[in-house]
Amino acid sequence: MCRIESVTKQLQLDEIAREIDNCKICKKDKIGVAVSGEGNPDADIVFIGEAPGKQEAVSGRPFIGRSGQLLRKMIREIGLDDINDVYITSPVKYLPERGTPTSEDIAHGRIHLLKQFAVIQPKFVVLLGRVAAEGVLQKKVFVTKERGEIIEEKDGIKYFLTYHPAAVLRFPSKFKAGMIEDFQKVKKLLAFS
Ligand code: URA
Repeated sequence: MCRIESVTKQLQLDEIAREIDNCKICKKDKIGVAVSGEGNPDADIVFIGEAPGKQEAVSGRPFIGRSGQLLRKMIREIGLDDINDVYITSPVKYLPERGTPTSEDIAHGRIHLLKQFAVIQPKFVVLLGRVAAEGVLQKKVFVTKERGEIIEEKDGIKYFLTYHPAAVLRFPSKFKAGMIEDFQKVKKLLAFS
């Protein structure tokens, strides 16, 4: 992709970010500023979380708290730069009042997310947990059983499921090894794409 196309994609993502900033439905019962996403507008791989946490809702940047530090470390450990090689966002763009997004928040967030995918046109989407899978694929998943695989492939995008880093931080002995294993699979998938 040439530089001019990449700049055009960034401008389109900026326009979507403005829509999110002004979206009254997104903002309802939420805290802080919008966190629309960040990274390479032309990335082959997009990471999808759940919803911003407290630090993200203050800074406007995704995954900068404890979960984010773990996610970004894992991204770097598979040889990718967490800013320049990937795009990071979530189905819900504001911190929900009660922490966990409602199904209405997730369903509405999909509208903005699909617009972002249409601009970026990634080859891979890594779904970090249940909310990401529901937000993107409108599908209920059993993460512990279905993770570590491409769970869907459509319109040229492969959707890979793994744990949300917050789950790994909460229960490292249960989930950390699996998440590391899953990221190694992602590395291989990218290398053979
Ligand atoms: N969890 C998410 O899913 N997204 C963030 O930006 C931070 C924590």
